[in-house]
Amino acid sequence: MKYYLGIDIGTSGTKAVCFNELGEVMTSKSYAYDMAVPKPGYAEENPLDWFAATIETIKQITKEGYRISGIGLSGQMHGLVLLDKNDQVLRPSIIWCDNRAIKEAEELIHNFGNEKMKAITGNPVIPSFTLAKLLWVKRNEPLIYKKIDKIMLPKDYVRYALTGSFSTEYSDASGMQMLDIHKKCFSKEILEYMDLSLDKLPKLLESCEISGHIKKDLTTELGLSEECFVVGGAGDQAAAAIGNGIIKRGDLSLVLGSSGVVFSPIGIEDVKDNPLQVFMHAVPDTYHIMGVTNGCGLSYKWVKEALFQEQDYNTLNEKANASKPLANGLIYLPYLNGERTPHLDPYATGTFIGIRQNTSDSDIIRAILEGVSYSLKDCYSLLPKQKYHIRASGGGAKGNLWRTILASILYTSIERIVQDEGGALGVAILAMVADHIYPSIQAATDKIIKVLDSTDPNLKWIEDYSKGYELYKEAYLSLKNYYKKAFEI
Ligand code: XUL
Repeated sequence: MKYYLGIDIGTSGTKAVCFNELGEVMTSKSYAYDMAVPKPGYAEENPLDWFAATIETIKQITKEGYRISGIGLSGQMHGLVLLDKNDQVLRPSIIWCDNRAIKEAEELIHNFGNEKMKAITGNPVIPSFTLAKLLWVKRNEPLIYKKIDKIMLPKDYVRYALTGSFSTEYSDASGMQMLDIHKKCFSKEILEYMDLSLDKLPKLLESCEISGHIKKDLTTELGLSEECFVVGGAGDQAAAAIGNGIIKRGDLSLVLGSSGVVFSPIGIEDVKDNPLQVFMHAVPDTYHIMGVTNGCGLSYKWVKEALFQEQDYNTLNEKANASKPLANGLIYLPYLNGERTPHLDPYATGTFIGIRQNTSDSDIIRAILEGVSYSLKDCYSLLPKQKYHIRASGGGAKGNLWRTILASILYTSIERIVQDEGGALGVAILAMVADHIYPSIQAATDKIIKVLDSTDPNLKWIEDYSKGYELYKEAYLSLKNYYKKAFEI
């Protein structure tokens, strides 16, 4: 039996999971790190923390005696990592939920053109995508910009440090807003606009392609052999989709992680004028649409740290259960890091409306679960109308209450799979396919992925939640101008 590692470089930590060829979990290790918020709207992490976490988790796994054949990397998307010509990190990474590049996004819209951007990259200009962040560095930190030798995404920094291979793959690259998703290469026009040469960007690979092998000088420390390869891997959402068997049209991945995500594969013919964000999938030559809530698990983490530090998430879930649908009139808008789908509003902030004298701690937690679920309904409502086969994953999906609230708000059943390892399983599957254990991703997921259970809507809650959703939508519209004015102050 051979063993493969799936490593997910996430927002709150890195998780490495060792799987056998059947996709069964042998062991898993996690390592947490902090996100810094140096100013409102900013979000940064240190790439050296990601690498230290990767090293630590691999070491702990190989110490248990597993001989690893191949590794897949899954990573938080859209982050900007900059290295100089001596491979030193030039500044903290500006990560996926950072919204500082508002002016630069406006500049791109006016000078490059939003329609042209959409035609090339599949998406309108989005301030939290890598390109606008790079332009922010160019405009605000010109000395750093001049020193840039390599531009990369979070998981690709870890790959570079592990293997020396300066490469990425299409699913994550399509979240940089620099990839021509039709021609599958970095866009000449965008590079010209930025006055940037192609050699500063990583080589593009397929997700199942081998990008390199573990550097010789790391093998002893990591307990890995020089034959151990690292595949292209995937952006965390494409990885989680594969790890849940979300491969073809009509499949839908719901992720309740730091971000909340609605993800569904599409064909090239559906790319044009899609109201959701469009990316390449990790399955060769396929695409997917995605709607993202920036403050999903981040909202839950925020409320825990701000108000319930002494209690664990199970206790918080129980508290939320003690409240009722509509949380005693309290509504939460989960825009801690701006709003990304459908309003694309970087000025929006997290908001509670409806606090009364008798609002309880249970109501506050329940309002968070409901508000995030309404935001996911905003994304879900933009999908092409058809029947979807839905699977949920991510830390939040472990909570029965949150799943039932979500199933009731979306008015649909939601499955979970047995191996609840999302992105880590997805990229381990890519490594297995690269190693010819399976002839294709589809063959691997057909064999490996097994359904655990299905959560149905609670019929008694449907009416309340459909009214709650209308109020939620109205709340944003009433506050839209306020958010912008408050930002300017
Ligand atoms: C996807 C996205 C997030 C991050 C962090 O577009 O922004 O899901 O990848 O998980």
